[in-house]
Amino acid sequence: MNSATTPLDQPTARISVEVNGHTVVREVECRKHLVDFLREDCGLKGSHLGCEHGVCGACTVRLDGQIVRGCLVLAAQASGRQVETVETATPSPRLKALQDAFVEHNALQCGYCTPGMLMAALDLVERRPDADREQVRVWMSGNYCRCTGYHAIVDAVCAVLEQQRAGRFSAGAEA
Ligand code: FES
Ligand code: FES
Repeated sequence: MNSATTPLDQPTARISVEVNGHTVVREVECRKHLVDFLREDCGLKGSHLGCEHGVCGACTVRLDGQIVRGCLVLAAQASGRQVETVETATPSPRLKALQDAFVEHNALQCGYCTPGMLMAALDLVERRPDADREQVRVWMSGNYCRCTGYHAIVDAVCAVLEQQRAGRFSAGAEA
């Protein structure tokens, strides 16, 4: 029998994660997923659990600037890294604009999908500034919504893309 062990072979691990700009040090079960760590150990209930299989996107957060499924990443894998959730106390102008646009366009009903939608939309606005409506629809298709029918969500994201193209987020422009 191979006696070699790794940290993930242990029942618990002491991890240090920068969450929304604050360092959180906790002893966690090695099998604990990032979204459970955020909800249970950090008290951040915005990221939701839906499918727990990487399908619905309700658990979407950013890890070192990349969007990930919080249900597919272990908390221990986030140790030493930066996590950003929808609750960040200092939302970027784009995230704030998306939040406002979701309200303005009635792009949420029960709100269960909304935190994940916002993080996915933020990634789109930052990475695909020239996206058209069809590309927005395809990008957001990785996040499921059971209430809105998606049209209002796409409207909201397109509105922020338009604001961005009009220079709203340029240096010196009012956010
Ligand atoms: S709960 Fe993670 S993708 Fe559905
Ligand atoms: S607003 Fe209810 S699931 Fe999207």
